[in-house]
Amino acid sequence: MPDPVISVKIGDLQMKNPVMTASGCYGYGEEYQDIVPLEAWGAVVVKGTTCAPREGNPPPRLVETPSGLINSVGLHNPGIETVIERELPRLGEKGVPVVVNLAGESEEEYIYLARRLEERAEVEAVELNISCPNVKKGGIAFGSDAVSAGKLVAKVRENFSRTLLVKLTPNVGNLPEIAGAVEKAGADALSLINTLRAMVIDIHAQKPVLPAGTGGLSGPAIKPVALRAVWEVTASVNVPVVGMGGIFTPEDAIEFILAGANAVAVGSAIFVNPRIPAEIVEGINSYMKQKGYENIGEMVGAARQ
Ligand code: FUM
Repeated sequence: MPDPVISVKIGDLQMKNPVMTASGCYGYGEEYQDIVPLEAWGAVVVKGTTCAPREGNPPPRLVETPSGLINSVGLHNPGIETVIERELPRLGEKGVPVVVNLAGESEEEYIYLARRLEERAEVEAVELNISCPNVKKGGIAFGSDAVSAGKLVAKVRENFSRTLLVKLTPNVGNLPEIAGAVEKAGADALSLINTLRAMVIDIHAQKPVLPAGTGGLSGPAIKPVALRAVWEVTASVNVPVVGMGGIFTPEDAIEFILAGANAVAVGSAIFVNPRIPAEIVEGINSYMKQKGYENIGEMVGAARQ
């Protein structure tokens, strides 16, 4: 039996396999390059990038919980110009599609960022981050309301011709409505989900462990929430969905695809097992052979039928 086809197309983003990095968990790829080649991924989604460099939030920025990690990084990144000069030329040589996650404080900033990347051949897609829970301005404020999310996406769409993904927050009560507005405004795909707002208290100091008070929870604890989000949103939108949130095993990734995701992204699991992309690809391959699927597209949303 020939190997099943696991290549995936999201908008114009052609990936040899459906496993992407989740933004923020792989930096700009440099630190991991000697452990696992970038080429193992279907696409590399880099850290949330802003107009100006950002120092991020004061430490500690990470706190472990029994089944997940809370981060309060605060979009620490070198800024778009450094990313263009230093990171993109290196990433562009690897033969793996590069997706830049973009975060702004205003519509103008998102538009500026998209325009700068429109000029860069190394970038196949952008992922609009309207869901970061760790900054005071912009980000999640756009992603918590269907009207402002749709308005922002429409403006960025006018300024960016390649594949446009939009990463949504689960910290809302009307996710399908927001997803619908973003689709209508011209997004090519949705990334579901960003982290859930969460906190830990130090009972000895009698104050929150994170100086910012709260952060975003990722990891196994949020997988059922993320699956539910993918399930609900894919029932009402037609654009492809990249599912993420607590994917640690091939079986987790398969669950997301059966729920309706066209591709998956891996975040916290990279910190535990940097070799995870190859393991997930192998697991998806074996599952498809066992179930008699020839093409991964046949599996998408199969749990719904
Ligand atoms: O704090 C952060 O940098 C997180 C970003 C995100 O969740 O998108």
